[in-house]
Amino acid sequence: MPKANREQWGSRTGFLLAAIGSAIGLGNIWRFPYVAYENGGGAFIVPYLVALLTAGIPLLILEYAIGHRFRASPPVAMRRLAKPAEALGWWQVAIPFVVGVYYAVIIAWAVRYAGFSLGQQWGADPDGFFFGEFLRVADGPGAPGGYNADVALPLIAVWIVVLVLLAMGVRRGIERANKVFIPLLVVLFGVLVVQALLLEGASTGLDALFTPDWSAITDGSVWVAAYGQIFFSLSIGFGIMVTYASYLRRRVDLSGSALVAGFANSSFELLAGIGVFAALGFMAVQSGVAVDEVATSGIGLAFVAFPQIISTLPVGANLFGLLFFGSLVIAGISSLLSIVQVVVSAVQDRTGMGRVPAVLSVGGATALVSIAVFPTDQGLFVLDAVDHFINAYGIALAGLVMVVVVAWALRRLPEMQRHVESISSVPLRIWWMVALGAITPLVLGWMMIDGLITELTVPYEDYPQWFLNAAGWGVAGGALLVGIVLAVLFRNREVTSVDEDLEEEERNGAKAAGAEEGGS
Ligand code: ALA
Repeated sequence: MPKANREQWGSRTGFLLAAIGSAIGLGNIWRFPYVAYENGGGAFIVPYLVALLTAGIPLLILEYAIGHRFRASPPVAMRRLAKPAEALGWWQVAIPFVVGVYYAVIIAWAVRYAGFSLGQQWGADPDGFFFGEFLRVADGPGAPGGYNADVALPLIAVWIVVLVLLAMGVRRGIERANKVFIPLLVVLFGVLVVQALLLEGASTGLDALFTPDWSAITDGSVWVAAYGQIFFSLSIGFGIMVTYASYLRRRVDLSGSALVAGFANSSFELLAGIGVFAALGFMAVQSGVAVDEVATSGIGLAFVAFPQIISTLPVGANLFGLLFFGSLVIAGISSLLSIVQVVVSAVQDRTGMGRVPAVLSVGGATALVSIAVFPTDQGLFVLDAVDHFINAYGIALAGLVMVVVVAWALRRLPEMQRHVESISSVPLRIWWMVALGAITPLVLGWMMIDGLITELTVPYEDYPQWFLNAAGWGVAGGALLVGIVLAVLFRNREVTSVDEDLEEEERNGAKAAGAEEGGS
């Protein structure tokens, strides 16, 4: 029986919207503003742009090239590159599995908070409300002591939406959803930013964000933060862009698309920084404190500081809350679709399973783990530790290994460059080779060593060692182990070459055309 043809995006715009939807996510809205502020404010723009141009966009182009040239999700694409590299491919599937299980929970919180913001249900103490009343977090890491239906129900809803869209397919599900989500997100977030800029004190917030602290530029950790932000934000290093590019047509502008996606993501990130800091400036002025006292990081910023801001607004509080949490939900779902698609696509490619069974089995398994673990009173601690370790020793490390394998071990960068240039509008020239062959491995390698030294000397967030071993090192190491084990299990199951695949598709296409002619 001939294999079904590989799914394809309906148009390049459809692919671009999906790639941008994947990139713009929770990381842009609450992570970037705080990271920028903490790492030199306006001066952070310098390492950020360097990271974007020397690592972000070059790696994005490499991932597009691998996915497009080898027409498969990471395990098969890597195996087509070189048989032993399949392990790297499976590792890049295990990482999004881990990211997906906790990413969905933050979206579920945002769903609840969109509702809470209508009645400002957090009252006078948003901090106590979030950690106590809403999440009912335990005192510290330990055995789970309770299960929270308030978190579980929206979480189940998020998973149903994501799995249904994935089951509908690349073009009918993911592409169509992003065609609605991205324009909607831009409008919602645009209105929010304008509303924030009109608040009293907005300029104080913007001053805090953009006043450059030039001494930060010489601080190594600022550069580490810039590279880390670019990786997470552009969705590179964990198989997403390899997978999305595998559904592209044969003739498509790869380098031009990467530039559009990369700059669209950074523009949105800047917009988020402006909106968030204008709002923080308002709150600082209202409470008579400095901006750094109200600018808390990550989860706190979205679910504690923002409710506080909403409660202080003189007019339009409900709208502001809906816009903010609604934007988080939309940006989050469009990214989660891409994260889970990697796992679904890898199983389809390697087992021949159909889309719906693959979504139900592996997508369902991802959802079950997520629903079982994160609504417990331990959920927040697990999320915090897993997020930290999988970002550093999953996403960034896998990105580093991929660059080293392709550029140095296999020496296949010139082939990838020829592939991209033969179909693209923007030539890569020498900068691409230098960025991937030298700058990225050096900076990322240094980042790893620097981070590891800190990790081993100061336990992350002062969590007990057993907990870090399980939820941090255990999960990040487990993802790598799963990658190796799966590669071993599949080592004797050969894959067709790209040429054979294309020939078969052409035959299928001709047969289908013939059948149509015969039938008409
Ligand atoms: N790129 C996605 C984000 O920024 C994962 O959240």
